[in-house]
Amino acid sequence: MGLIEMIRAKAREDKKVIVLPEGDELRTVEAAAIIRAEELAVPVLLGKTESVLAAAEKAGVSLREIGIIDPETSEKAAAYVEALYEIRKNKGVTKEQAAALVKDPMYFGIMMVKLGDADGLVSGAVHSTGDMLRPALQIIKTKPGTKVVSSSFLMDCPNKALGENGLLVYADCVVIPCPTAEELAHIAIGAAETAKKLCGIEEPRVAMLSFSTKGSAKHELVTKVQEATALAHALAPDLLLDGELQFDAALVPEVGALKAKGSPVAGRANVLIFPDLQAGNIGYKITQRIGGAECFAVLQGLDKPCNDLSRGCSVEDIVNTAVFTAVQAQMNE
Ligand code: ACO
Repeated sequence: MGLIEMIRAKAREDKKVIVLPEGDELRTVEAAAIIRAEELAVPVLLGKTESVLAAAEKAGVSLREIGIIDPETSEKAAAYVEALYEIRKNKGVTKEQAAALVKDPMYFGIMMVKLGDADGLVSGAVHSTGDMLRPALQIIKTKPGTKVVSSSFLMDCPNKALGENGLLVYADCVVIPCPTAEELAHIAIGAAETAKKLCGIEEPRVAMLSFSTKGSAKHELVTKVQEATALAHALAPDLLLDGELQFDAALVPEVGALKAKGSPVAGRANVLIFPDLQAGNIGYKITQRIGGAECFAVLQGLDKPCNDLSRGCSVEDIVNTAVFTAVQAQMNE
């Protein structure tokens, strides 16, 4: 069974409520209808009822048995305003500002997840990544014991000799533009957890990527990856993790044996940690566009699952992201 089939089967076992704040967006209504029809989760659409229904008509789908909530008229709004005010008052948010924010479906959806009225959220077909991430970071916040929110891209490659039967986990490709060594260490630990718990990779083998392998080059950027490697070892001594490694030394057995002899990871890595967001974001797109990999993105480290879409996403991408979000919600229990 491929990764997405496995995740879909898991989502069906215990259906979670997934809120879709961009409820009057054509691809989103179509995705909601599929999620409902295939019983992958319980979708809830946010927006003005007439706009959501108009979008459904335009998309040619039925929203029968799918909840639609208008944040402007919802009876839950007052409780959400109160809770949002309590969470953000120390950051200067007033009650009036909280009331205005809750009318915004993005914030309303985040409050649904925060207060347990939904199990997870998927957004980003319309919102930019930053506009989707900010309320999640401010309100849902990090899981206890977790320092940073970051992302993993699950890359299902046609070359099954790579990683774990063709599956590679890339991090961070979405969130932290310029991570410190400490943040990189936490990204690595978060990605290993995603690999294990979400993707079912029993033995995550984590490579801390650089343009240098084991001191072959000297530069402050290399030093940062070396520091991150040492920190990650200290934080997770049982994790199979090594660095710094070049991409080929991490993935190709002969190169790994040559450049990093004796490494438990070199040549057989299945989790790749990129040194910054430029490298990670470019890296996943190269793997997708030139390497022909299918890719799925999830955020890790949030207390409750919220996931971002690309604005160029397809209906299938929205369905898949909702399914991953639902399984992350199951893992949270
Ligand atoms: N983990 C945990 N909390 C965080 C993180 C993080 N990685 N980043 C920010 N926060 C918290 C802050 O502590 C702050 O909390 P507070 O308000 O309670 O004090 C809150 O989030 C807001 O932080 P700011 O620094 O004010 O937010 P900023 O405007 O810098 O936005 C963001 C953070 C949105 C993550 C920003 O770093 C960003 O835009 N990242 C890049 C997103 C992007 O464009 N990705 C690439 C495209 S995606 C794609 O191609 C698939």
